[in-house]
Amino acid sequence: MEVKEMSRRIVVDSDIEALPRIQRMWELADENNKSKQHPADFPAMAEIPVGRYTRQDFFEIENTAIWKQSWLLAGFVDEFAKPGSFKTTTIADVPVVLVRDDKGAINAFYNVCQHRGSKLIKAAGGVQPNLTCGYHCWTYNLQGELKFVPDEHDFPGLDKGGKSLRSIRCEKFGAIIFINFDEDAAPLQDFLGVLGSAIGDVPMDRVRLYKSVSRELPVNWKAVLDNFAENYHVKFVHTHTLHPLVDSKVAARQCLSNGHSALTIKPRTASAIGSVVKSDGLAPADSSGMKEVTSISQRAYTLFPNVSITVTESLLFVLSIWPVSVNQTRADGYFLSISRTGEDPEATAKAAAEAGEAGVQFFSAVMQQDLDAMEQMQEAMSSGGIEKIRLGYKEQQIYNYNLEFDRLIGKNNIPDGLEVEDVGLPIIVTA
Ligand code: FES
Ligand SMILES: [Fe+2]
Repeated sequence: MEVKEMSRRIVVDSDIEALPRIQRMWELADENNKSKQHPADFPAMAEIPVGRYTRQDFFEIENTAIWKQSWLLAGFVDEFAKPGSFKTTTIADVPVVLVRDDKGAINAFYNVCQHRGSKLIKAAGGVQPNLTCGYHCWTYNLQGELKFVPDEHDFPGLDKGGKSLRSIRCEKFGAIIFINFDEDAAPLQDFLGVLGSAIGDVPMDRVRLYKSVSRELPVNWKAVLDNFAENYHVKFVHTHTLHPLVDSKVAARQCLSNGHSALTIKPRTASAIGSVVKSDGLAPADSSGMKEVTSISQRAYTLFPNVSITVTESLLFVLSIWPVSVNQTRADGYFLSISRTGEDPEATAKAAAEAGEAGVQFFSAVMQQDLDAMEQMQEAMSSGGIEKIRLGYKEQQIYNYNLEFDRLIGKNNIPDGLEVEDVGLPIIVTA
């Protein structure tokens, strides 16, 4: 494979997780660890101001610059089984309703009635033939068009055609639904870039959501994201869970464009990760047609700005991390089964939900250890006891998305002293 360097962008001409490439990166990581060498071609990272995690003004800037300009995970296709299937959520303080229409499309709207601004749909989810406001019964079809107004004769000159629900950009990556509040945003596929091809082997038509969990914790959302982006902590936090399975020092770490990253970790034995998941009775090895590297590694990705994805042969674990306030975060975890070719995806998901608890228990236990590690972290960070965070090579993914945060915010809009220096981090792009 040709790998050539162009300033700080590393151009790779094929799959970033091609097995020979990953194995070479593992060998290099192993050599560096054994000889206690910092990779010669990797820059030292500057320190990150703690105020980015604790200051209200930075939090408010994020709300506009990050959450209103990025593609955000909003759900999974199989949450919308039939026409009229809907789900409501609040993202970045915006009430959102997603609904499948009678043509099969999934549409996203501001969940706001165009009469007098009531929150349109109050239920969390369900199936409805149309979207009806509970206040005065203005009724919209599944494309968001206003179709019925009680006593319409009392509204002379009302143009119902001009009173559709305000729509939100909504695009799919396989089974995963994303929205973007920025009407001018580049398409989702462009935003995913290299990451899209990195996880493009996941057979999304065979992926089904079978369990979800949600937790709130009193720490800034980026501290939670940081935790799930790096694996420097694995030996110390996951001593008896993950650490016996994976050699977290031996990993291929790849910072990708748009703030995404890929982390491909060497297991201690070839089947270490698969064995945890396979004990759920999910698909056996070599049946999913996924990348060769899947069965012999722990594949994990950070999807900018707030999602962590773990890929195995039979299970996807997706974690989305949402700010509630500057010092409060909600973490939503989703377990998705991947069925074998020819197997009924619904039956696989049902079996996993009913009987397959090993994978869920394993990931839940690991997640709990992470959350415990972050206990009282916000108080500590806000105490005046630390001004800057120092990141090591194994935490480079954190630096990568911080640079992307600053790019979106704009250098001139970052409060004094809170910027992150661009040190020329190597970013992987494909030719
Ligand atoms: S506010 Fe929705 S119908 Fe009046
Ligand atoms: Fe962890």
